[in-house]
Amino acid sequence: MTFDNLLYQTDQGVTIITVNRPDKLNALNYDTVMDLNRAISAAQKDPACRVIIITGSGEKAFVAGADIKEFSEFTASQAKELSQRGHTELCDLIEHSNKPVIAAINGFCLGGGLELAMSCHIRVASNNAKMALPEVSLGVIPGYGGTQRLPQLIGKGRALEMIMTGGMVNADKALSMGLVNHVVELESLMLLCHSIAEKIMGNSSVAIASAIKAVNANYQDGVNGYQIEIDEFSKCFETEDFREGTNAFINKRRANFPGR
Ligand code: COA
Repeated sequence: MTFDNLLYQTDQGVTIITVNRPDKLNALNYDTVMDLNRAISAAQKDPACRVIIITGSGEKAFVAGADIKEFSEFTASQAKELSQRGHTELCDLIEHSNKPVIAAINGFCLGGGLELAMSCHIRVASNNAKMALPEVSLGVIPGYGGTQRLPQLIGKGRALEMIMTGGMVNADKALSMGLVNHVVELESLMLLCHSIAEKIMGNSSVAIASAIKAVNANYQDGVNGYQIEIDEFSKCFETEDFREGTNAFINKRRANFPGR
């Protein structure tokens, strides 16, 4: 598959989507958001893909935010459309993906870039990564879910401090706050993401999709996450994967789930 603003490659179950505007620090303009939407949707439908990794091109940036030049002249109604699209067509799509999505954060991860990373299921950062929601310095607030997902990940007090100061946190600070799961040298970033993907791919993809759904339910208004867990748990009992997983355990062998 080819995209104007992305690199897209699937190998051994892992699809790597690389935002590819390095001269603009991979800032998310409209076309890039739409390319990401198409790429993620394609990966979700592709049986050859079991885990998605999103990263940025070059060694300087994951994504340095939404494209400021593009939105600087927007009216309120254009801004509403931009924000709505960022939510539904990008961040919600990733958060509710039935396949795990890992953010490989390889440098500046700012504004819409951090919001993109926070919608992923797992975040791994290189030790040169810098994260911030600097929108208030531009006279605006985060618009791709940052005001909601940052408090979920690091707590309300720390999130408000990050949002109100717009200050950057380095990779180690992000790790200590729970904003990222791991920090490694830049050279080892993709290696660690692949090794996490490998562990995930050893498990039942059907059960993983159910787990994502159940965990997400905790953060959805009007949804009883405990009930979703009960429903998803019981649905697993009708799957081939459950038969294979339990049979393998009983017969003291490694489970061989479809797609491996
Ligand atoms: N939107 C549009 N263009 C951006 C961008 C963004 N969010 N972030 C970086 N760029 C562009 C710069 O305009 C510059 O393009 P140019 O060469 O055509 O002028 C290019 O990327 C390189 O950025 P530059 O600022 O020269 O690099 P730097 O190393 O001096 O600074 C940053 C790096 C990340 C500190 C700085 O680019 C920055 O503050 N970016 C904006 C971050 C932000 O506020 N993001 C939130 C947006 S909601």
